[in-house]
Amino acid sequence: MLTIMENADQLAQSAAEEILNTVRAQPNAIIVLPTGNTPLPTYARLVEISQQQAIDWSGVRVVSLDEYSGIARDDPRVLCSWLERKIIGPLGIATDHFIRFEPADDPLTESARIEDWLGKNGPIDLAVLGLGLNGHLGFNEPGTAFTARAHSLTLTPESISSNATYWGGEDKVPRSALTLGIGTLMQSCRIMLMVSGQAKADILARSIEGAVGPEVPATALRSHPNLIILADGSAALALSRESLP
Ligand code: GLP
Repeated sequence: MLTIMENADQLAQSAAEEILNTVRAQPNAIIVLPTGNTPLPTYARLVEISQQQAIDWSGVRVVSLDEYSGIARDDPRVLCSWLERKIIGPLGIATDHFIRFEPADDPLTESARIEDWLGKNGPIDLAVLGLGLNGHLGFNEPGTAFTARAHSLTLTPESISSNATYWGGEDKVPRSALTLGIGTLMQSCRIMLMVSGQAKADILARSIEGAVGPEVPATALRSHPNLIILADGSAALALSRESLP
């Protein structure tokens, strides 16, 4: 289901409500949260509403979507530390309820550890995702099999370039990463994809209307039975009339 919101504020409001509905229905829900610029307004709204309505987050388990690898845990670029500052800490989620990839540890062991945790505790109730400029989900880069489980990878030049805006230059972007796999994400009970800004218009159109296949990882989502796509007006600009709600 695609919903076009008038602007980024409305997108944040709807996305925050969607996440809160999951928590209200299941106080011990497992929720995947992404990093990136897209979810920032949603996280701010989520914290605001949670404080106003005294939402209890103590039972919720958050799983990180992705992480750089081969950097120290105290490196300022660690994505899970960003997530901790922006949302985990402000919501009062305990450290042991934040299931995160360790950037400095062996990537193979890390991927297996996260999959093992999900196997014992899953399924994921809600996976919140952003969309990469090249169609990536988490760090599932173009060419990744739709059946992929958590894995380590080398970033594509496109992802290095888009991530450069976070760290002030391509040379500052780590080259390898860890991510939940597309196959892992597709087993989630519900998936919410958030897309904002005109820069994402073409890739959103390709994700929704283009050929389904690993070259655009987000096309995998089209076969998920419980998918919600929230896009703002700018991100929806390249969609054909048939796709619009
Ligand atoms: C990044 C992250 C993804 C994120 C996506 C979009 O590279 N690995 O998890 O969802 O790209 O980021 P943004 O919201 O900043 O456009």
